[in-house]
Amino acid sequence: MYCASFSDKTIEHFMQPRNVGDMPDADAVGSSGEPGCGDFLAIFIKVSDNRISDISFLVDGCVAAVASSSVTTELAKGKTLEEAAAITDQDIVAALDGLPEHKLHCSVLGATALKNAVEHYYRRRQGNNQGGGSRSTA
Ligand code: FES
Repeated sequence: MYCASFSDKTIEHFMQPRNVGDMPDADAVGSSGEPGCGDFLAIFIKVSDNRISDISFLVDGCVAAVASSSVTTELAKGKTLEEAAAITDQDIVAALDGLPEHKLHCSVLGATALKNAVEHYYRRRQGNNQGGGSRSTA
């Protein structure tokens, strides 16, 4: 059914992705798109005491994109914002026990969307501290 070169862990995350769904009360949102294939990921985070207390995602993408997104949320949950922003696409690939060479780019979606979510959180917080208080997620 799937490409034989996917690891068992990748297939398992694809079949039963963790932390899927919208998060209407998220503190921040980060997105990422892969121009080469048109796949798209959005990651939502809630932050408590500088840590990611809750995280979810919505993705429109391939098997590797779904699995990468799922494992990204597992890697990030409970981490400080600094630790989460430091998660790389290589970390994501390693957590999936590898991806086929032609699917390595899919892991960039997760790392990029997570970094964007953390940056969005910082921007929002800065805005609130300056009295802006914008709730926009653009
Ligand atoms: Fe587009 Fe995987 S082929 S992210």
